[in-house]
Amino acid sequence: MTIEPYYIELIKSGEPVAFPTETVYGLGADAFNTKAIEKVFKAKGRPSDNPLIVHISDPVQINDFAKEIPESVNILIQEFWPGPLTLVLKKKPIVLDKITAGLNTVALRMPKHKLALDLIAKTGPLVAPSANKSGQPSPTKANHVFEDFGDTVSIIDGGTTEVGLESTVLDVSRPSPMILRPGSISKEEIEAVLGSTVLIDDSEKAKPKSPGQKYSHYKPKAEVRWLNPKDDLRDPSTLFLLINGNKKQNNIINYDQEFDRLARELYDRFRQADIEKYKTVVIEPFDERNNVAIIPALLNRIGKAIS
Ligand code: TXA
Ligand code: MG
Repeated sequence: MTIEPYYIELIKSGEPVAFPTETVYGLGADAFNTKAIEKVFKAKGRPSDNPLIVHISDPVQINDFAKEIPESVNILIQEFWPGPLTLVLKKKPIVLDKITAGLNTVALRMPKHKLALDLIAKTGPLVAPSANKSGQPSPTKANHVFEDFGDTVSIIDGGTTEVGLESTVLDVSRPSPMILRPGSISKEEIEAVLGSTVLIDDSEKAKPKSPGQKYSHYKPKAEVRWLNPKDDLRDPSTLFLLINGNKKQNNIINYDQEFDRLARELYDRFRQADIEKYKTVVIEPFDERNNVAIIPALLNRIGKAIS
């Protein structure tokens, strides 16, 4: 699987192109072209105070964007790149203001998807927010991108994404690393590798350090809420996502404790609920457990869809 030259030319001519990563589809644009980046903000309807992640294809490119890189970054890259870990670092002056929304930091990530790496290797670094209209769930299939943008955006189809939730955003520009957005790489995994404590940004509602966290993402039109004992599973206007059930019924999806599958399918289920005109999506509650890294990210995204 390699990228057709057509898409590389499009990016080089300043047009956005949607492409798959291992987390969700991104809407890519040349990280050194202000006009191309403006097109991404405009197409998404994204507030200009919400900064973008720069995607690179080789760890050495960190040095093109970031300065004062702490020793811990080498360890993190060794362990987690390419992969769903975004690092926030002090930025170099060369980084376009459009990307960072005026912050003195820049977010960098080297994705793991073969098509993403091939594309970026040929175009150079790309900004890539999730390829959805602002307020819609992130796209995990090429068709989701098409639902939001129609044929106004070119899409590289790489099938269904592997993780299904956006990358872990880790701020390493501060003395103690802090998770700004949970993802499939967990606090515990990062702590194990660093041998030190990692903080979690819990200032979400007040003034989140990751500006994107303050916007109501991940929200389908259907109401999302947790299951309660009074719910009637026969209610045809409700789509049930059950962790422990085994009932076969059109409006019931059984996950049988497979949290990675729930993460992979969550946004697709939100979109399905709207397309099939369900009024409500009801999810069976579950708790964090030590050996399932994805659960805090799932609870974060479901929490946002509920609030
Ligand atoms: O998995 C992902 O990260 C996907 C794929 C396409 O790579 N991308 C993605 O991008 O989720 P986006 O733009 O939807 O979310 C980026 C998040 C936002 O919450 C944004 O506020 C935060 O990263 N962010 C970007 N730059 C930042 C910075 N300098 N400091 C703090 N947060 C930053
Ligand atoms: Mg997004």
